Amino acid sequence: MHLENLRLINFKNYQDEFFDFTNEINCLVGNNGSGKTNLLDAIHYLSLTKSFLNSTDLQAIRHDQDFFSLMGTVRKEQHEFKIKCQLKKGEKKVVSLDGNVYERISQHIGQFPIVLISPNDTDIIQGGNEFRRKFFDGIISQLDREYLEYLIKYNYALRQRNHLLKHAESKYRIDPDLLEPYDRIIISMGERIYENRKKFLEEMLEPLQTHYDHISDNREHITIGFRSDHQTDDFNLDFMRALRNDLAAGRTNLGIHKDEYKIEMDGYPLKKFGSQGQQKSLIVALKLTQFDMLRSGNGFKPILMMDDIFDKLDEHRIDKIMSLVAGHTFGQIFITDARPERTFGIIEKIEADKKVYWIDEGKISTSEK
Ligand SMILES: Nc1ncnc2c1ncn2[C@@H]1O[C@H](COP(=O)(O)OP(=O)(O)O)[C@@H](O)[C@H]1O
Ligand SMILES: [Mg+2]
Repeated sequence: MHLENLRLINFKNYQDEFFDFTNEINCLVGNNGSGKTNLLDAIHYLSLTKSFLNSTDLQAIRHDQDFFSLMGTVRKEQHEFKIKCQLKKGEKKVVSLDGNVYERISQHIGQFPIVLISPNDTDIIQGGNEFRRKFFDGIISQLDREYLEYLIKYNYALRQRNHLLKHAESKYRIDPDLLEPYDRIIISMGERIYENRKKFLEEMLEPLQTHYDHISDNREHITIGFRSDHQTDDFNLDFMRALRNDLAAGRTNLGIHKDEYKIEMDGYPLKKFGSQGQQKSLIVALKLTQFDMLRSGNGFKPILMMDDIFDKLDEHRIDKIMSLVAGHTFGQIFITDARPERTFGIIEKIEADKKVYWIDEGKISTSEK
């Protein structure tokens, strides 16, 4: 799969720009703040209908404008697709495929998979469990539309239930009939989400170890521990028993929204004991595993985007990734870098179709093959 072209209108610092991409390596170079990451974010929108940087869509509208619009042409083998994503202030975001507007935007997700390696990825190791849940959920959702539906239903029920708990008249009593419909969803969807998360983790550990070994040249053993409230004999019963605590706290204490992932190296938490190099290696290994799993699950290669990785990784790890690039392990690639001569030095040796775009204040100043 590859993105053939992209038009951005009023998207962040782009006023109206058109990109014609190559199927292989696309390099975006330009000073800090010129719009390289914003372009990757636009591609992220076309794939996952949201930003990887901003928590609200409104932030993506160019200052002093009242809408943004992104239009991309994607090719999957013989088929060409037109994806459009548009947001007008005061209206709902509209996503369409070949002119057909999705009733529910989530239906789009998973059809045009991407893998992004970005400086924010350190959160997967350094951050709280919500970052790891988000990371793994993101991969599973791109592979399995049903899983995404479970998550959406679960999160909706959780919000409603928490709202009722928080605004209950008493901290000791609540009409159980009020909670019942949400309890049912939380228990049933939670069980499915739990099973999926567990199964996915089991499947990914081996490829993850293989990638880690390759990147790090070390032989540490990686494990990702998983803990869930669902691992008990009777989650149903535990959940009902927790109601008193839930009321007191004004929120739901048990469920898959509390699932924990523990990344360990030779039995010790990577977050605390891993060297910077080991942590970086693991992040790259996680992303390459994500790539593998999306490729084998979908039967085609996802788009790979690498944001400022030359800044964040050392030469050794870059060489390892670039050997995969040179071996055509990947399909279409987008690379950003503020230092063009460094990018050229790295990609020079690679036999592939390459295109370089010089970005300056949200405009292509030049592009060359
Ligand atoms: N909604 C917006 N409207 C106009 N400019 C924006 C908007 N959001 C971000 N920007 C601008 O985009 C620039 C950052 O672009 P970015 O793609 O992160 O740069 P880089 O090339 O360093 O990756 C900043 O100058 C920022 O002010
Ligand atoms: Mg950037």
